[in-house]
Amino acid sequence: MCGIVGYVGPKTALDVVIEGLRRLEYRGYDSAGVAVVADGGLTSRKKAGKLGNLEKELAAHPLPESGLGLGHTRWATHGGPTDGNAHPHFDSTGRVAVVHNGIIENFAALREELQQAGITLASETDTEVVAHLLGQQFPGCVESHGDGALAEAMRRVCRRLDGAFTLVAVHADAPDVVVGARLNSPLVVGVGEGEAFLCSDVAGFIGHTREAIELGQAQVVEVRSNAVVITDFAGEPAAGKPFHVDWDVAAAEKGGYDYFMDKEIDEQPQAVADTLLGRISAEGRLQLDEMRMSESELRSVDKVIVIAAGTSYHAGMIAKYAIEHWTRIPVEVELASEFRYRDPILTRDTLVLVISQSGETADTLMALRHAKDQHARVLAICNSNGATIPREADAVVYTHGGPEIAVASTKAFLTQLIACYLVGLYLAQVRAAKFPDEIADILEQLSQAPAKVRETLDRMGPVRELGRLLKDEGRVLFLGRHVGYPVALEGALKLKELAYVHAEGFAAGELKHGPIALVDQGLPVVVVVPPADRPLLHDKIVSNIQEIRARGARTIVIAEDGDTAVAPFADTLIYVPELPTLLQPLVATVPLQVFASALADAKGLDVDQPRNLAKSVTVE
Ligand code: F6R
Repeated sequence: MCGIVGYVGPKTALDVVIEGLRRLEYRGYDSAGVAVVADGGLTSRKKAGKLGNLEKELAAHPLPESGLGLGHTRWATHGGPTDGNAHPHFDSTGRVAVVHNGIIENFAALREELQQAGITLASETDTEVVAHLLGQQFPGCVESHGDGALAEAMRRVCRRLDGAFTLVAVHADAPDVVVGARLNSPLVVGVGEGEAFLCSDVAGFIGHTREAIELGQAQVVEVRSNAVVITDFAGEPAAGKPFHVDWDVAAAEKGGYDYFMDKEIDEQPQAVADTLLGRISAEGRLQLDEMRMSESELRSVDKVIVIAAGTSYHAGMIAKYAIEHWTRIPVEVELASEFRYRDPILTRDTLVLVISQSGETADTLMALRHAKDQHARVLAICNSNGATIPREADAVVYTHGGPEIAVASTKAFLTQLIACYLVGLYLAQVRAAKFPDEIADILEQLSQAPAKVRETLDRMGPVRELGRLLKDEGRVLFLGRHVGYPVALEGALKLKELAYVHAEGFAAGELKHGPIALVDQGLPVVVVVPPADRPLLHDKIVSNIQEIRARGARTIVIAEDGDTAVAPFADTLIYVPELPTLLQPLVATVPLQVFASALADAKGLDVDQPRNLAKSVTVE
């Protein structure tokens, strides 16, 4: 959350910064701002609202030409989304500019200290205190550290800060350097030919270079056009982790689609195929060396705890059904934000599976750290190479979804499912599964998943039409059983976040224990029907559909090809290709994604950037 771009080099800094912010806007879009150092001074523009507002402001009041600058797109924490609270923030001299992602927990005490020293603060943000503290430290550091003064001032300030933060700063009296710092919040250096970038993630500079350095925790970095110097907060030299970004700028652009979300929904067959690639041998055996656990360690696992947030949590719920069934190891699934507060029981034989698309979600990161403190082994499933969660986990199974820009998660979810299935099947393989024939069949079916997801996408015309038709609905229910239950929760979450519809997902069997009271004439109810390979489950949900239809609901039924039993009770029937029950979420989720996108678009909403949300939630 919050996008940061800093630049130094021969290009026009403002152009580079705005382009980077455009690619990072998914991280937050309450307000935006930029500052450049030019002609011995610092000039800035900032504006509430989306980046477009700032661009209009810049057109009306241009900034001077400069090769050094920074910018920020905000997701508000302290202080509402106003022009004044937008970043950058400045000290009283107006010669230092700071942008920030995260929360400075002791800001109230620092603010009080500054006020007692006679300083007037211009905003309600926690960030502004950093600008004033930097401004205070800088002159003394010029005497002791010369050219390295801004970095030293940053180190001194960071030593006083509690919380989680990424900071990037420039100073009018240090016109060739951009300084950054990070603690529990991401910051990546982009290293180009005679230019350098400091960004929240690689999307901020991917149009210019694919060579990057990931900073470690509690480090300060000083970038010039031809040099990168990293230290810890005490000033000791430190090393970042260089890496090559393996996707290019085209992957971060819309490519003819109206929305990134629609593009990403359409990319799912490829994303699923890429995540499977190289992990199933020609002999039908799984190869998952990334798990970095010996076979005896894997055999000693006596409990799995899956931890995640939001959509990733729904993937984790599905993982429970699959892993327990294939391995007979008990699996718990827990919301990351709840995990460490309930004193969970973990031992060396507990395998903790953390799932995170971004690899930066603060709730999930803190849960991971808690699990490691209790000596559990932590395996991450992550889509972002080099992010904090995969770096801190004992091992990582990467999903290969490519960059996900739309705030609502789609291809990340499907690839997380694939990774969860692979982990479960690998555990089953190592522990000599109870159902070898079923496991072999599942592996075969998994290899067909990309084609089945493609086939599902090819049938989405009527689903889009349905989304448009129901654009004025204020309420929608989603029902499912077994793995269809998390799919129902995911369908409801997509509709809530994109279309601001009050959507709820329920386990269909729970309906009669309360939620059925919500059903009245015309209420749209989406029902995910399990395949006929589980007749008991299937018959139960057919009864549930009849119950809600009898009470006037408008039933929208998602069922597998050939399921004629549900047809008489469906006002709208959406068929998806056949897959075994445990894999059905791979196809059953797709219509729910398309439905939410189409309905939000029909309401005239911004599908990629829903209100109040941010892609990467780096605060708890
Ligand atoms: C919903 C969505 C969020 C994320 C959640 C976790 O569409 O995207 O619910 O799934 O914030 O994010 P990650 O997976 O990055 O940890």
